[in-house]
This record gives sequence, structure tokens and C-alpha cells, in this order.
Amino acid sequence: MAGNQIGSFIFISSLLLHTQLADVQYSAVMPHTVTALTGSCVQIPCTFNTSDFEDKLKKTVKSFYGLWLKKIPQYGNTDSFIAFNSSNNIIRGFSDIQITGNLSERNCTTVFYNIMMNHSDNYYFRLETKPEVFKATFNNQPVRISVRDFPQQPELKPNNLPYVMEESTVNLNCSAEAPCPKQPPNVSWSNIPESASITTQLLEKPDKTQSVFSLMTFKASYRDHKKNIYCTVTYTRETANDSTVETNVTLLVLFPPKETHITISPSASVSVGTNVTLTCKSKGSPSNNMTYTWYKLGKDTAIAREKKITFTVSQNDTGFYLCTAQNKHGNQSSRPKNIQLTSEESSRLVIYGCTKGIFTLILLSAVCFYYLRIKTSGQAHDTGSNQAMDKNSDAVAIYANNGFVISEKNEKETADLHYGEIDFSKLQTSHATREFLSNEPPTEYAELQVTEKKTKINK
Ligand SMILES: *[C@@H]1O[C@H](CO)[C@@H](O)[C@H](O)[C@H]1NC(C)=O
Ligand SMILES: *[C@@H]1O[C@H](CO)[C@@H](O)[C@H](O)[C@H]1NC(C)=O
Ligand SMILES: *[C@@H]1O[C@H](CO)[C@@H](O)[C@H](O)[C@H]1NC(C)=O
Ligand SMILES: *[C@@H]1O[C@H](CO)[C@@H](O)[C@H](O)[C@H]1NC(C)=O
Ligand SMILES: *[C@@H]1O[C@H](CO)[C@@H](O)[C@H](O)[C@H]1NC(C)=O
Ligand SMILES: *[C@@H]1O[C@H](CO)[C@@H](O)[C@H](O)[C@H]1NC(C)=O
Ligand SMILES: *[C@@H]1O[C@H](CO)[C@@H](O)[C@H](O)[C@H]1NC(C)=O
Ligand SMILES: *[C@@H]1O[C@H](CO)[C@@H](O)[C@H](O)[C@H]1NC(C)=O
Ligand SMILES: *[C@@H]1O[C@H](CO)[C@@H](O)[C@H](O)[C@H]1NC(C)=O
Ligand SMILES: *[C@@H]1O[C@H](CO)[C@@H](O)[C@H](O)[C@H]1NC(C)=O
Ligand SMILES: *[C@@H]1O[C@H](CO)[C@@H](O)[C@H](O)[C@H]1NC(C)=O
Ligand SMILES: *[C@@H]1O[C@H](CO)[C@@H](O)[C@H](O)[C@H]1NC(C)=O
Repeated sequence: MAGNQIGSFIFISSLLLHTQLADVQYSAVMPHTVTALTGSCVQIPCTFNTSDFEDKLKKTVKSFYGLWLKKIPQYGNTDSFIAFNSSNNIIRGFSDIQITGNLSERNCTTVFYNIMMNHSDNYYFRLETKPEVFKATFNNQPVRISVRDFPQQPELKPNNLPYVMEESTVNLNCSAEAPCPKQPPNVSWSNIPESASITTQLLEKPDKTQSVFSLMTFKASYRDHKKNIYCTVTYTRETANDSTVETNVTLLVLFPPKETHITISPSASVSVGTNVTLTCKSKGSPSNNMTYTWYKLGKDTAIAREKKITFTVSQNDTGFYLCTAQNKHGNQSSRPKNIQLTSEESSRLVIYGCTKGIFTLILLSAVCFYYLRIKTSGQAHDTGSNQAMDKNSDAVAIYANNGFVISEKNEKETADLHYGEIDFSKLQTSHATREFLSNEPPTEYAELQVTEKKTKINK
């Protein structure tokens, strides 16, 4: 009988070699290799065809049955055997095997259950019929069952994300093989970006084996920068413990500076002679060459271009500071931060200032009185105005600072509305603070407006 089989094998082989000459052409299609997991099942997708299948076999044959031969196409050898004969349901070396495909429709799909390490081998499909008009082993293509104790890592695509621009759409595909489609692995994600949407499905690959595909789509946010996204896959098994495998990818996002703010050390309230350090903090990507520019409200040029500025506080250092951080994707300004003298020191100055203020008020009233009396004189008006400008150079500075803020707002695309609004209100505070600190009378505000007009005319 074994000799007969070998003979038929040789006959079939010659058929394959000289297909044009053969009466019957036949072939089976199945994957070259399937990876199986111990303690689980493995499905072999399989279809076959013979040239006379539709016109002859299907008409004359009562029933088809399938066989699986282990190792080599001949089953007479000592180290090879028939693992399965579906005619009498003989199973050797396995706990269960089922042909789930409909052989009448040329579907030889088979599931092997409770896989063990020693099941790793080549397997050949053989078709037999009742009555016995056709017997052939489809030796053109065996399937290799490759058994593993632990599942393979899921495949994450792209696995090495290039830098993505903020707000751009990112697709991450995580796929995990599902050798046993009855028990597909459970795919889950961790460190999911806020905007992510996930769709998971069991799909056939081109070789007809199945995999679970999970597609995650999201808009890259700067908050996701350097986020390590994990795709975790859990395989449940019948006769072994569940196993979990995972793959990760690091998200790198490019974005202009964000959350720009100033930190002050030791504090924003300092006494004269203290060393104070202002640090400009900002998030940006790339961060390696972020540049920083410092401004002091009241000065129209930058005061420094480092991340940190340190100075020993003198009276004239009080006021509002702001910084701008820039990288190649844009820039952002911080809110202004006030450096002021400690309360004891400023109250001392306030008392001194008030005294001087009252005195100035009296003096000013006298000046006003004098001014009202000689208001017809244009010459006197000019003199008064000029005096106000010289005396209140500080007020001019405040105005200049106002101008700086406005121009800043117009020039810089990234300067947001909040910035403008907050600045304006802060400036009022700044102005008020300055009146006290620089020992100016409260009436200075009126003078400031005069100065403003004058400056506008000059422009
Ligand atoms: C099976 O093979 C025959 C002859 O080669 C061919 O005509 C037929 O289309 C094939 N059927 C399928 C489903 O491939
Ligand atoms: C498969 O089983 C059937 C029925 O028991 C038998 O006739 C046939 O010879 C078997 N096939 C092989 C290759 O042993
Ligand atoms: C694999 O090993 C088990 C025992 O560990 C044995 O029962 C079975 O027949 C072996 N199967 C094969 C295909 O060698
Ligand atoms: C073959 O049968 C299997 C199991 O029933 C089924 O999943 C598969 O879709 C069938 N293949 C074809 C090509 O019909
Ligand atoms: C297999 O297919 C044939 C026709 O192609 C059909 O008559 C038969 O019922 C099917 N068998 C099963 C188990 O689905
Ligand atoms: C991810 O899968 C979708 C379809 O599921 C495909 O269109 C897309 O090209 C895939 N992306 C990558 C990076 O593989
Ligand atoms: C898959 O995993 C998630 C999260 O761990 C869990 O909530 C869910 O029940 C699991 N599903 C299955 C089918 O195991
Ligand atoms: C399954 O897990 C239990 C407890 O974690 C362990 O004792 C046992 O050895 C594991 N079994 C296998 C087959 O790995
Ligand atoms: C993340 O993936 C890389 C390879 O892509 C690996 O080297 C690293 O160990 C993984 N990290 C963790 C925590 O799993
Ligand atoms: C302040 O800084 C100056 C120079 O940077 C240094 O000489 C001085 O000792 C510092 N003063 C204090 C109180 O740390
Ligand atoms: C950024 O850094 C790179 C190298 O570190 C340098 O070549 C490049 O000129 C820098 N760009 C800016 C705008 O500073
Ligand atoms: C502040 O006053 C000191 C002298 O007290 C002077 O050296 C320094 O230049 C002044 N700084 C500013 C910003 O006007």
C-alpha cells in the first residue's frame, strides 16, 4: 500500500512538472507558514482546485474527505504519518483537528486544536473521494506550522514616527496575529492622545490568515510631545496562561513656544541690593535652540537675550518685565511680571512720596492758578508743556511702553488677544504703582495725557 502511495506521488510530481501534458491539473493554496501559540488553536486557510473538479468530480463523487500528512507528502515513512483522516476521524499526535471548510466548494480550511511545541512541522493536504475516483496529495505546497510558547509582539506602524507638526493627523496601526480566529487577541492602547478615535477589527491578510487590526487616529497636540504610546495585546488560551505582549512608539511633535511664563527667584517682592533672577520658561519643539528676548515695560528695546537674567535690585529696576520665546515654528510672549520692592520698603517710600506729593500738589495748584491767569499767552503754554515733559521723563517712558505694547501686538502674528488685553490693564496698574514709587503727584496723569498728544503731533 505504501509502495502504491509512493507511486502515485511520483505520478503526481510528474504531473506538476509537465502540467501541459497532464490530464488533471490540481493545486492547493495555503500560507507557507502559520505561527501558532501553544495551548491555543491554529486555523490553516486552505483552498484547492483540480481541472476536472466542476465537470467530473462533483458529478460522480458522493463525498469528499480530507487528510493532513505530517512532515513529507508520503505517509509510509517512519517519521511521517497521517495526522488526520476526516473519513473516519482518525487523529494522531493532536487532541483535535476539524476541517471547517466545505470540501465540495474546494475549501479545505482546517483548525488544529491545543497546539504543542512538537506540532511544529510541514503539513500536506490530501483529498480522497467516495467512491474512490480521486486520490491526491497536494504536494505543490505544504503549510509550515511554527509553534511558539509566547506570542509575537504586535506590529505598530509606523514604528518609528518622524516628527509630526502640531495639529496634523496621525494614524497608528497596531496589528496582532490571530492564528486562532475563534479566540482573537484583545488589543488595547495606553497613553492615548485626547483626540484619538480607535477602530479595531479582525481582518484577513493577503495570505488569508487573520490578524486583529487596531487603527488609532488623532490630531497631534503639543501635550502629546514625547508621549510613549503603547499597543498592548492579550492572548487568551485554552490550556496555557494568558500572555500579554506590547509595542510602543514615541510621539514627537513640533510646535511653537507654549506656556511661556516668567519665574522669579527669590521672589517678585525684593529689597534693594538683593540679587534677583528672572527665568523665561517655555515649552517648544524643537527646544534645542529656543531663543529668549527680555523686555522691560517702559523701554522700547530688548534688555537681554538669554534664558535667565540676574541683577542686583536698585530702585529703578522695579516694574514690569516680559519675555518672548522663539523657535523656528514661531514665538510667544509671557505675561508681564512685576518686580516690586518689599512692603516695608515701599511703604517707607510711599510715606515719603505722599509728603512730597502733598507739597507738589500745593505747588502745582499755585502753578495752575498762575497758568489760568496768563492763559492768553501761547508762550507760557509751551513752556509749561515742556517743563512737564522734562520733569516727567518717567511718564514719557510709560507712554513709550504703551506704544511698544501696541506695536508688538501688530507686528507679531502669534501675540494673542489675551496678551493685549491683560497688558493694557496691567499697564494701568503699572502706571498707578509708578506714580507712588517715583514720587510723582496723582495729577501727573493729566500731564501724561498732554505728553501723549504732543508725541502724536511729533509723529
Ligand atoms: C479550477 O481549475 C479550473 C481548470 O484549471 C478552472 O477553469 C477554474 O476556474 C478553477 N476554479 C477556481 C475557483 O479557481
Ligand atoms: C482514510 O480513511 C478511509 C476510511 O476509513 C480509508 O478508506 C482511507 O484509506 C484512509 N486514507 C488513508 C490515506 O489512510
Ligand atoms: C507531542 O507530544 C505529546 C506528548 O507530549 C504526544 O502525545 C504527541 O503525540 C506529540 N505530537 C506529535 C505530533 O509529535
Ligand atoms: C472556507 O471556509 C472557512 C471556514 O468555514 C471560511 O471562513 C472561509 O471564508 C472559506 N473560504 C472560502 C474561500 O470560501
Ligand atoms: C457544502 O457545499 C454544498 C454545495 O456546494 C452544499 O450542498 C452543502 O450543503 C455544503 N455543506 C455544508 C456542510 O455547508
Ligand atoms: C493603517 O491602516 C489603514 C487602513 O486600516 C491604512 O489606510 C493606512 O495606510 C495604514 N497606515 C500605516 C502607517 O500602515
Ligand atoms: C479587552 O481588554 C479590555 C481592557 O483590558 C477589557 O476591558 C476587555 O474586557 C477585554 N476584552 C476581552 C474580550 O477580553
Ligand atoms: C500559569 O500561571 C500560574 C500562576 O501565575 C503558574 O503557577 C503556572 O505555572 C503557569 N502555567 C504555565 C503553563 O505557564
Ligand atoms: C519601547 O520600544 C522600544 C523599541 O521600539 C524598546 O526598546 C523599549 O524598551 C520599549 N519601552 C518599553 C517601556 O517597553
Ligand atoms: C549679587 O551678585 C553679585 C555679582 O553677580 C555678587 O558679587 C554679590 O555677592 C551677590 N550678592 C548676594 C547677596 O548674593
Ligand atoms: C539651531 O541649532 C543648530 C545646531 O544645533 C544650528 O545649526 C542652527 O543654526 C540653530 N538655529 C537657530 C535659529 O539658532
Ligand atoms: C539704575 O540706577 C543705577 C544707579 O543707581 C544706574 O547705574 C543704572 O543704570 C540705572 N538703571 C536703569 C535701568 O536706569
